[in-house]
Amino acid sequence: MLEKIQTTEKNFKSDLSEVGDLNHLEELRIKYLGRKGLFAILFDEFKQLPNEEKPKYGQTLNRLKIQCQNEFNEIKSKFSETAEDDDKGIDLTLPGRSVNIGTKHILMQTLFQIKSIFKGLGFSVYEGPELESDYNNFEALNFPADHPARDMQDTFFVNENFLFRTHTSPVQVRLMKEKKPPIRAIIPGKVYRNEAISAKSYCLFHQVEGLYIDGNVSFAELKGTLVAFAKQFFGNDVKYRFRPSFFPFTEPSAEVDIWWQPKGKEGRWLEILGCGMVDPNVLENVGIDSEKYTGYAFGMGAERIAMLKYGIGDIRVFFDNDKRFLTQF
Ligand code: DAH
Repeated sequence: MLEKIQTTEKNFKSDLSEVGDLNHLEELRIKYLGRKGLFAILFDEFKQLPNEEKPKYGQTLNRLKIQCQNEFNEIKSKFSETAEDDDKGIDLTLPGRSVNIGTKHILMQTLFQIKSIFKGLGFSVYEGPELESDYNNFEALNFPADHPARDMQDTFFVNENFLFRTHTSPVQVRLMKEKKPPIRAIIPGKVYRNEAISAKSYCLFHQVEGLYIDGNVSFAELKGTLVAFAKQFFGNDVKYRFRPSFFPFTEPSAEVDIWWQPKGKEGRWLEILGCGMVDPNVLENVGIDSEKYTGYAFGMGAERIAMLKYGIGDIRVFFDNDKRFLTQF
């Protein structure tokens, strides 16, 4: 009997030293102190001892049971305290925090749309540097020396020979020097103009240039491509017109207008792009035989067409980073 009591005591201590949490502790309580637990069994055995032996074990057994009970209670209260600490300061009824996910800038969305429409029409996408030579930006594009765009008031010159490109057209020059016809690409990018900032003009904006050079490219193809673009971008019922115009690097040249009809106001034509057949002088400047090849080019302002499509009245909002504007799209 004594041996059994001692073993139970030893096992209880070692079990208790390994207890991990309140559930585990409760399992041990049932195992040792429960109604059918190991102590209950010991007491049953004790009852069957002859009377003269009872005093000898009774005291030990009682003392041990009380001791175990105390140790058990002590550990239990320690676990309960830490559990309470964990809960402190946490209000499980509070609603969760919402996560704000940014949106793509409306200008990036517009550029993405323009690119995907032209990709669908067989154009690849090409890019060029924003810091450009005077030669690529003007001279190779047939700008006469006294052209007003060359004036200090319009162009940000870095030095005598370099400038921030005033349009994406110089990338045409790079492309035609780099690749052999057929060439069919669009060129999106930032351009810079030294202009007074107003609702209509900003010192920086985005253009998308287009270029197609091949054996027999005609003005009719240029028209077809731009009409297809306008319909996909503005909708099938868009009202457009081609108007004769002038650019040094195209001949003949045209501009495309879109009919703009704000609700409750008078409608009017708004220019969205310039275009034309690449001037033979430009082809010769880049080493393409103008007897063998023809091509068309166009250039549009991305802010301008986004303003038209979404009814935005001031170009400056694209660059203000005002969340009230940005989150509308
Ligand atoms: N580069 C012209 C501008 O900034 C736009 C332009 C007009 C581009 C006609 C072209 C073009 O490629 O053919 O105003």
